[in-house]
Amino acid sequence: MSGLLELDDLARHFPVRDALGRARGAVRAVDGVSLSVPQGSVLAIVGESGCGKSTLGRLALRLIEPDRGAVRFMGEDLRALSARALRARRRDMQLIFQDPFASLDPRMTVEDAVAEPLRLHRVVPRGAERARVAELLERVGLRPEAARRWPHEFSGGQRQRIAIARALASGPKLIIGDEPVSALDVSVQAQVVNLLQDLIRDLGLTFVLISHDLGVVRHIADRVAVMYLGTIVEAGPAAQVFGAPRHPYTRALLAAVPGHGARAAPIEGDPPSPIAPPAGCRFHTRCPFAEAVCREHVPPLAGSTHLAACHLQDRLPPAAALHERNAGGDRLRRLQAYFGAPAPQPDTTGVHA
Ligand SMILES: Nc1ncnc2c1ncn2[C@@H]1O[C@H](COP(=O)(O)OP(=O)(O)OP(=O)(O)O)[C@@H](O)[C@H]1O
Ligand SMILES: [Mg+2]
Repeated sequence: MSGLLELDDLARHFPVRDALGRARGAVRAVDGVSLSVPQGSVLAIVGESGCGKSTLGRLALRLIEPDRGAVRFMGEDLRALSARALRARRRDMQLIFQDPFASLDPRMTVEDAVAEPLRLHRVVPRGAERARVAELLERVGLRPEAARRWPHEFSGGQRQRIAIARALASGPKLIIGDEPVSALDVSVQAQVVNLLQDLIRDLGLTFVLISHDLGVVRHIADRVAVMYLGTIVEAGPAAQVFGAPRHPYTRALLAAVPGHGARAAPIEGDPPSPIAPPAGCRFHTRCPFAEAVCREHVPPLAGSTHLAACHLQDRLPPAAALHERNAGGDRLRRLQAYFGAPAPQPDTTGVHA
């Protein structure tokens, strides 16, 4: 399968130094990620804070360099491009950041902010800039008068609309949104999510949505990749990943989404350090199902369209069957805690109906 964007075994490790500047290991922020993003699709990258989502997004646009692996965009190896060719290519790939207050230059009017990419990539002749800016502002739901004003005159949601207009200015094929609505009030979030959905549909954009908010992702994504400690643990069509998650980590993430109704407990505790990730399956230290194989061997990301990296994925009990399992003691308690079942009473055999 060849997508608009192809990531192949991408890795980026950040050195950790002590007070004297000596290397003391590395944060394995992204540690061997392969993904294909089909043209016109919306891929969500989800996972807890620090799992490497933003680093992956920056690697995909070659805003930072990988230690290993390849990025192909429109069939072209981005690493092979000269600086000049890469600058030209940037016209087709844009990034929207979480914080619209930081991403807009306070000394630029809205018109200049939106016109800058038009000029940089010579999208329209100079005389046509003003009209194009007005069109872009209208496209994101702002009045043309907004052009003469300054970023600080706008609310968070309006500023994010300006940032979106700026990202659209060069006519990109791919946009990566790194938590594009996370900094906004909930009511405003829905409006901006709707705007993004309209734009994706109307302009035929390919969109990578980086988000820790599965509620937002469910609205907008048609494919999902779940990251844990720098690796992909599950990936596939959104309906399958949300409807029948195969990795215990995905199940736990979904359990934390209000209204999802998944019978699993949200995951507890913090992920282990990405400086020294656990051997075997990186999730085994927090997984209620972990067995010896999980501690010893790295599970491959297996499957055809719906992939999961879990040794036990074909043997994980569905939530309903759990209560009939002849498990006992600690293991039963952990499983039941995970699925939100009542803790076993001391005077029972340890098996609940
Ligand atoms: N420039 C850097 N130098 C050193 N470490 C970094 C750098 N950028 C990221 N990291 C580390 O890499 C890991 C992944 O960070 P990243 O920002 O990609 O995670 P994230 O999933 O986007 O998190 P969040 O949800 O909080 O935005 C973290 O442990 C982070 O501290
Ligand atoms: Mg991030």
